[in-house]
Amino acid sequence: MSDPSKSPPKRRAFLVTLLSGLAGLFAAAVLYPLWRFLSPRKGTGEQEKVRLERASVPLGGAHFFNFRGGPAVVVQPQAGSFIALSAVCTHLGCVVKWQEENDEFFCPCHAGRFSPRGEVLGGPPPQPLPELNVEVEGDQILIG
Ligand code: FES
Repeated sequence: MSDPSKSPPKRRAFLVTLLSGLAGLFAAAVLYPLWRFLSPRKGTGEQEKVRLERASVPLGGAHFFNFRGGPAVVVQPQAGSFIALSAVCTHLGCVVKWQEENDEFFCPCHAGRFSPRGEVLGGPPPQPLPELNVEVEGDQILIG
């Protein structure tokens, strides 16, 4: 007599194949979205530059813009002199604000302060704001 608790070899092989296939599908369903999330987006390459009108950056003022997927800012502390910086605070990643009346950047999260050149003036930020390359071409500013 055959033991009913023992599956015949063909049936066991079928179940192993079926479960392996389901495990593979499950792994693909989890890993593919993760891979897509971690992959760099199109158009965020190192060569990408941002072109702004000079007139969009007032003397003593700031113009915020999106740079390679993150916030950035350009200021004009003196006529014709432009400085572009990442607008992400180096403490915990909040976006800094420009305070024209104090001529400095202020981080609203923990009161970090930065000069128009991005140097730390006070608060907990451990490093200056990263500076971006700026070129002036006629009435345009090229950043990146
Ligand atoms: S995140 Fe800017 S000071 Fe903390």
